[in-house]
Amino acid sequence: MADFKTLDDIGDVTGKKVLVRVDLNVPMSDGAVADDTRIRAAMPTIRELSDKGAIVLLLAHFGRPKGAKNPTQSLSLVIDGVADVLGHSVMFIPDCIGEGAKAGVAVLAPGDVAVLENTRFHAGEEKNDPAFADALAEIGDIYVNDAFSAAHRAHGSTEGIAHRLPAYAGRAMEAELKALDAVLGNPAHPVAAVVGGAKVSSKIDVLRNLVGKVDHLIIGGGMANTFLAARGVDVGKSLCEHDLVDTANAIFDAADAAGCTIHLPYDVVVAKEFAANPPTRTVNIHEVAADEMILDVGPAAVEALGDVLKSCRTLVWNGPLGAFEIAPFDAATVALARTAAALTREGSLISVAGGGDTVAALNHAGVADEFTFVSTAGGAFLEWMEGKPLPGVDALRS
Ligand code: 3PG
Repeated sequence: MADFKTLDDIGDVTGKKVLVRVDLNVPMSDGAVADDTRIRAAMPTIRELSDKGAIVLLLAHFGRPKGAKNPTQSLSLVIDGVADVLGHSVMFIPDCIGEGAKAGVAVLAPGDVAVLENTRFHAGEEKNDPAFADALAEIGDIYVNDAFSAAHRAHGSTEGIAHRLPAYAGRAMEAELKALDAVLGNPAHPVAAVVGGAKVSSKIDVLRNLVGKVDHLIIGGGMANTFLAARGVDVGKSLCEHDLVDTANAIFDAADAAGCTIHLPYDVVVAKEFAANPPTRTVNIHEVAADEMILDVGPAAVEALGDVLKSCRTLVWNGPLGAFEIAPFDAATVALARTAAALTREGSLISVAGGGDTVAALNHAGVADEFTFVSTAGGAFLEWMEGKPLPGVDALRS
């Protein structure tokens, strides 16, 4: 699978300036980093290069400042978070290109780690402007991309620069690509995919791609209602995109043609309002009343889905099965996630999950650490599930 170079190929980096693209687009709360998962993911690469005597220059974006300097989106705000995880001080350089950047880099010694200011403060970053990529490349000797979660963006710091300096995949990038290859590139069959979330419209391309690749497609969340409606089920007041019934039927047909079994719930948990612990009923899908909405997959269906996973060797998971943020509608997601975790522990299943809500749901179920791999990516994970090329990954291959 590895048709790109990794840190194993990088050679002697002593005293070399290594520009490492990381993802420091982290959630903040009261001025501090609220979730340091992405910072921790970048540590193996940062430590390895620093230990080998490189001058480690971290390139990253933070928010969407659209080419203008905005103090609320300065990477100086995450410096303490990076230093805390690294366990020693980190320099901040107030620009990522030009004389300001060069002057900051000039005072660094081998082994030092510095964060350069938000690449998106320059309009050339998102435009992938060749002049901006040239200016970035002037700052360093070597480029390492460790930001899989930004690899769906063809930007100066993720794509353009990779054509200008010797380019390598970092350890986190390598781990992401290995895990993704194990589930959709070259997987052990049977393969199951769990796709949940509110709307079919946001995942049409994911579903279209998956029916041609997996043996079992488990559809949950609000989007399952659209598929149930396409099968003639009256879903009452449930979230349902009735205008996408034809799309759902086309996906059923594509699945049939490809030999992929689509699994929809046959019992569901319904309520009249979407609130914490309202009165609920567990009913067959044909018994949903006109004033009720489907908010979770029912226990019988979850048990059957667990049996599907038991028959599989590979699982890719994106999106919750129910409205998991509010009890008791987290039950199906928690139960199936625990089954997947137990099968992974036993060694019978390779399980990979990704996407914002998914990680939150697995953390909520207490099993994120037990999956084979949990991606740090949101949009990039979805685009990969859609089968789209990822410019930041492709640039490492050339
Ligand atoms: C993310 O948070 O998913 C990545 O950092 C990409 O951010 P973006 O969607 O602003 O490009």
